[in-house]
Amino acid sequence: MPSLDGPALTEHGFGRRLAVENGAAFVAAMEAEPERLPAALGDAHGVLVLTGLNAISDDPDLLVRLSRPFGREVENYRLTTPRQNLVHPEVPHIFIVSNLPPMNFAPPERPDPPLTAEGGLPLQFPHRRGWHTDQSFRRPPPDISLFYAVTPAPPGQGQTLYADGVAAYAALPPALKARIENLQGLHVAPFRGYGEDSVLAGETPKPLDPRDGPQPQPVVRIHPETGARALYLCEREQMDWVHGPFVGMEPGVHGDGARLLYELMSHYTQPRFVYAHAWQAGDMVIYDNRCTIHTATWFDAKQYGRLMWRTTVWGNPGPAYAGEARSWDLAPA
Ligand SMILES: [Fe+2]
Repeated sequence: MPSLDGPALTEHGFGRRLAVENGAAFVAAMEAEPERLPAALGDAHGVLVLTGLNAISDDPDLLVRLSRPFGREVENYRLTTPRQNLVHPEVPHIFIVSNLPPMNFAPPERPDPPLTAEGGLPLQFPHRRGWHTDQSFRRPPPDISLFYAVTPAPPGQGQTLYADGVAAYAALPPALKARIENLQGLHVAPFRGYGEDSVLAGETPKPLDPRDGPQPQPVVRIHPETGARALYLCEREQMDWVHGPFVGMEPGVHGDGARLLYELMSHYTQPRFVYAHAWQAGDMVIYDNRCTIHTATWFDAKQYGRLMWRTTVWGNPGPAYAGEARSWDLAPA
């Protein structure tokens, strides 16, 4: 049995890195003892980096098999997303993140300025934007994502940043913890005209498909497996800045809700809570959407084609969602 012990990703103990020798054998071993990898993810505060899984590039079903221990359903995107150009043609459980056609998924712009005053990669909100947890505009939202690099961006570009929601919550001042204890954020699918920039520009929001939200979500989520409390928030495009960003607070981009979101997100993304993953082909990052957030960074999409595969697993969002029907199934054709 392979060891699942590995070094922490940051000096503050966030995440774990595991080196895999043989991808196909590793997947078979994790299927034989399906509780081990989810337990390792919990021990790692919700981010596990696995290197050396290059076998997945030739056998994408290995990615789906490695996803199954994390929950009762690996999402079949052919049944849930109208954007079929982003669904793997042979394996519908794989969502493709790529700037190549037919996906044409552009990377985010460079931050302004592109580097920090110390010359490093900007991490902290609002210098760094785009922080989110996957599909938070759905109820229940997904638990786990597995993100795999077939062809990453070149070195120094196209990193993915992850922030530790458990550590960030624990470090909040007690008065702020009390203020957000029962607060709910209002989450919406990106690029529908409800994002911060659209509201600032005075755009008219588009009619929303029910699958796109808006959906309220607790700001403080209690992890159903570890019991840990974590901040659960997005910013910019994935919060509803027309009616939110928080339920019951002054709405809009200049309201009390906006001020609180800026305070919480800049706290959440302090460099001490962040891990920046520099991708190599065959790397996988498994992340727990219930207790982490992440964001993409710029790469030169004119020069380079980047190809990443992602699965999402759902089924254990915690008691706050007990008995709910899914908000996000496509109606039967
Ligand atoms: Fe994401």
